[in-house]
Amino acid sequence: MKVEPLVLPVFAQPVELHTKRCVLRPWKDSDLAPWCEMNADAEVRRHFPSVCTEEQARGEAQRCRDAIAQRGWGMWALEVPGVFPFAGFVGLAVPHYDAPWIPAVEIGWRLPRAAWGQGFATEAAQAALEFGFARLGLNQIVAIAVPSNAASLRVMTRLGMVRDEAGDFDHPRVEAGHPLRRHVLFRTRAVHGA
Ligand SMILES: CC(C)(COP(=O)(O)OP(=O)(O)OC[C@H]1O[C@@H](n2cnc3c(N)ncnc32)[C@H](O)[C@@H]1OP(=O)(O)O)[C@@H](O)C(=O)NCCC(=O)NCCS
Repeated sequence: MKVEPLVLPVFAQPVELHTKRCVLRPWKDSDLAPWCEMNADAEVRRHFPSVCTEEQARGEAQRCRDAIAQRGWGMWALEVPGVFPFAGFVGLAVPHYDAPWIPAVEIGWRLPRAAWGQGFATEAAQAALEFGFARLGLNQIVAIAVPSNAASLRVMTRLGMVRDEAGDFDHPRVEAGHPLRRHVLFRTRAVHGA
């Protein structure tokens, strides 16, 4: 079956989102060092197949920056003014690998350990969801995680996302047989006419 790609709005200027405590903003060069440090932390990468080398981390940051430069939105750098000049990323991505739930827009988050346990991921993700529904006109947004990533699953639940029990899938970018290959899928839908 041929699946049509999503047609998504492009903003001429990079979008910045503000919440009570957080700013989701385009990346700065000064974010790169703490980003690389965070992705070399085995605890942050506990639910990923490996930590990242500096080259890999810089590559991922560049892809985030390129997406925001091209469309105005994406995986934003998270800042908590007065607390954390850079606290990882939160935002929306358009995955291009092969999975049964694609095409879809995915919400994601990755914060350094010092920023955990304070509600920043959920608060920032709520703003990203609202942006996705109100300004991108999406009908639904998905999130994925390995089943053992309880903290991430709690973020999804706090956001009102619901597990699609039929949506479990093997992540094509994780090698066959790897214990972190199996993923669960959560969805949330726009409420129109509220
Ligand atoms: C996933 C991840 C972002 C979750 O971070 P988190 O700090 O647990 O989530 P939040 O920022 O929403 O914080 C919520 C927690 O802070 C607590 N909290 C403390 N003060 C709070 C406040 N003022 N407001 C809201 N929550 C507060 C909440 O009770 C909650 O704790 P709980 O989940 O134990 O009940 C983080 O664990 C992470 O970056 N992990 C590594 C990368 C990763 O796995 N990414 C996801 C891949 S799928």
